[in-house]
Amino acid sequence: MSSAIEVAGLTKRYDDRTVVDAIDFSVGHGECFGILGPNGAGKTTTLEMIEGLRRPDGGSVSVLGSSPWPRDTTLLRRIGVQLQASAFIEHLSAIQQLHTVTDLYGVPTARAVEVLAQVGLADAADRDVDALSGGQRQRLSIACALVHHPEVLFLDEPSAGLDPVSRHNLWDVVRSVRSDDTTVVITTHHMDEAEQLCDRVAIMDRGEILAIDTPAELVRQLDAPTRLMLPPDAMSIDDARHIDGVESVEHDAGALTLVTRRAADSIQALAAVGSLDGLQVRSGTLEDVFITLTGRHLGDQAEETA
Ligand SMILES: Nc1ncnc2c1ncn2[C@@H]1O[C@H](COP(=O)(O)OP(=O)(O)O)[C@@H](O)[C@H]1O
Ligand SMILES: [Mg+2]
Repeated sequence: MSSAIEVAGLTKRYDDRTVVDAIDFSVGHGECFGILGPNGAGKTTTLEMIEGLRRPDGGSVSVLGSSPWPRDTTLLRRIGVQLQASAFIEHLSAIQQLHTVTDLYGVPTARAVEVLAQVGLADAADRDVDALSGGQRQRLSIACALVHHPEVLFLDEPSAGLDPVSRHNLWDVVRSVRSDDTTVVITTHHMDEAEQLCDRVAIMDRGEILAIDTPAELVRQLDAPTRLMLPPDAMSIDDARHIDGVESVEHDAGALTLVTRRAADSIQALAAVGSLDGLQVRSGTLEDVFITLTGRHLGDQAEETA
């Protein structure tokens, strides 16, 4: 199977600072590919070079077999780029906004209703874009990017600044796009978003890609232990240490935590002594992967702001 996107040695410099440093990856047709990293990692720069909006200083990009730079108008019709929500035309309703896009692409007007329904905004069709919530505006901007049935959709931090309910609505939209066989490239600094939506994730930091794999495989390779959390008085610390598979025990006012890499054995041993009440299991996450690769939390962004 040929790739939808091939990136090789892609590099961008500003003055003498390399902000994207010779990165390589490919994205398969129909794949949802995530670029996960903190603020300033180089995600937007990477995305915009692939979209043909910024000129690379080195390396090559191929999108659907064509080079996006210099600008290729045939290619532009085959990709969808989410507008910044602030780019809407003021005082138009959601449906009018979409009609400007159907006109622009010369697609039937009826397509506007279709994409509005796809992003869950059918009820807001006649509402002024200025009256939409942040989450609704994000979904409308995705609808605008989908009008012309693009083969590849690019989303740059689509859930930034959204509350949890709006984020989950947005995830449903991305999943519906995926189910149409559209290739999706999404950037995010939320590890749960990458874990939920992406087939594969590139972990990016300071212009470099540190790892690329499925979320499950990234976590598995990390060999992070599982934490079995019990009520603090569930058993003595000494008894906890002797549970099969347990490597260490942490104890505080909130929980007795058994750290294990053989969770199944440990849980079975807990069951055998009748201590499963209130058990919570916490496995490794992409956040743990990021911390292991960089020594920092994904949330630690202040130091990265240029
Ligand atoms: N036009 C520009 N001129 C100078 N520096 C830039 C420009 N655009 C981005 N940068 C710098 O490049 C780095 C990566 O930025 P960006 O791609 O926006 O990261 P991200 O999207 O991961 O937050 C940042 O340090 C940023 O300040
Ligand atoms: Mg960005």
